[in-house]
Amino acid sequence: MKFFVDTADLQEIRDLAATGLLDGVTTNPSLVAKAGRNFLELVAEICQVVDGPVSAEVAATDFPTMLAEGQKLAAISPRIAVKVPLTPAGLKVCKHLSANGTMVNVTLCFSAAQAILAAKAGAAFVSPFVGRLDDVGTDGMALIADICQIYSRYPSFTTEVLVASVRHPMHLVAAAKLGAHVATMPPSVIRLLFGHPLTDKGLAQFVADWQKTGQAILS
Ligand code: E4P
Repeated sequence: MKFFVDTADLQEIRDLAATGLLDGVTTNPSLVAKAGRNFLELVAEICQVVDGPVSAEVAATDFPTMLAEGQKLAAISPRIAVKVPLTPAGLKVCKHLSANGTMVNVTLCFSAAQAILAAKAGAAFVSPFVGRLDDVGTDGMALIADICQIYSRYPSFTTEVLVASVRHPMHLVAAAKLGAHVATMPPSVIRLLFGHPLTDKGLAQFVADWQKTGQAILS
């Protein structure tokens, strides 16, 4: 399973890339607004830091402008995945860009029917938002199960299921059990994955007991 970080904070991306566990980055207009940086410069810098797909979202909603924006974003790096909304115009852009070898991430997916459309449009990734579905009283993870099951029945569908709007570690674990290809998580959630109180307690005991030996491995 691939781990992407869902942020436009370059320092957070650098820190997490240093773990060697990061496979890519997703950004969205809200995250870019929060970062307060020039979008094109920021995306180019992220591509220097992370050796994997970097999702950068178009801003327009009409087909010709979205296509032109997508082409401009794709020219930054071959690792850019142009992010388009799951609308008729967005899927049309997806079809055009994918046919020319550009990765496209179809975002704001909230139904299995929409995910089928994204696959038919040749998307490299589809982003179902589990947390936002949970927020409105719908089982977000049930959507991931449906999409994984449907995609597995059609070998010609090469679209990867990119679980988005992940709010806590159990979202990740549930998505992994279902075989989702990718999860994009905020830095705070990625950091939570590492922690367990018994790990901390056990390590404190081992450190204390090692000191009693009076030895040093590196002398
Ligand atoms: C995915 O690409 C989106 O940027 C993201 O996961 C949205 O998450 P949110 O619902 O927490 O804003």
